[in-house]
Amino acid sequence: MLAFIGGSGLYKIEGLEIVEELKIKTPFGEPSAPILVARHGDKKVLFLARHGKNHQYPPHRVPYRANLWALKEAGAKAVVGINAVGGINKLLQPGDFVIVDQFLDFTKSRVNTFYEGAFSPSLEGEAKNLPQKLVKEKKVVHIDVSEPFCPVLRKELQNLLEEKGFRYHKRGTYVATEGPRLETPAEIKAFALLGGDVVGMTMVPEVVLAKELQMHYAGLCVVTNPAAGIASYRLTSEEVIQMMKQKEEQIKEIVLSLIENYDNLSWDCQCEESLSGAIV
Ligand code: HPA
Repeated sequence: MLAFIGGSGLYKIEGLEIVEELKIKTPFGEPSAPILVARHGDKKVLFLARHGKNHQYPPHRVPYRANLWALKEAGAKAVVGINAVGGINKLLQPGDFVIVDQFLDFTKSRVNTFYEGAFSPSLEGEAKNLPQKLVKEKKVVHIDVSEPFCPVLRKELQNLLEEKGFRYHKRGTYVATEGPRLETPAEIKAFALLGGDVVGMTMVPEVVLAKELQMHYAGLCVVTNPAAGIASYRLTSEEVIQMMKQKEEQIKEIVLSLIENYDNLSWDCQCEESLSGAIV
């Protein structure tokens, strides 16, 4: 099943009929919100509000592990994270979509793995899949992230954006910062020198955790503002939320089309083999 994680300004998707709310407890705590099971025609999808229904989880306190674990439990095989980002690359304009293909991780305080070896939680019952078995056996795992984002989902997003004629960029490097503060202009200058195109606070560790669970993950980023120092004015949260509101209709179109096409995707990628050769 396909799942969406909605970021700032995106707490539900209009046009989807909610049929169930799943309250799932995980060995890593509770997800940021109930997982919504929604229907579009005869297709079912999952939706999760990353920051909670009322935006009560700041980026550094989002229960990323519980979110991904619960989505997997609910039957998600592929996840699309929808994210507001600041534009570092001067070619980017507010309102542009970016289908990121790489990331630079500048987060500081987040647990970014399910596989904590001796520090893993104890799992009750029988393991239903390989990730559960690895946590149960308290394994250490080093996944390869040469291709962090699912190429099949990225290509599909590209096709959809092209077809709809929305302004978008088919690749980009996402810089993940710890937040919740925004960046200094000096930091943005440094990130630009390192090859960063957009900056946000949440897609890492989300993408990494999805990969650790052998799920397909793509990030659909919306440039909500020029990053600090690139903008010649003070940045505000209102600007971010307002741009996400403005893009809501286009995001909805992309989401609905992706749901419609999902069953036709052929998964000729390696996302589901992320654990092979990775276990110590
Ligand atoms: N920085 C970090 N995160 C963001 C930004 C930004 O400028 N805009 C939206 N999310």
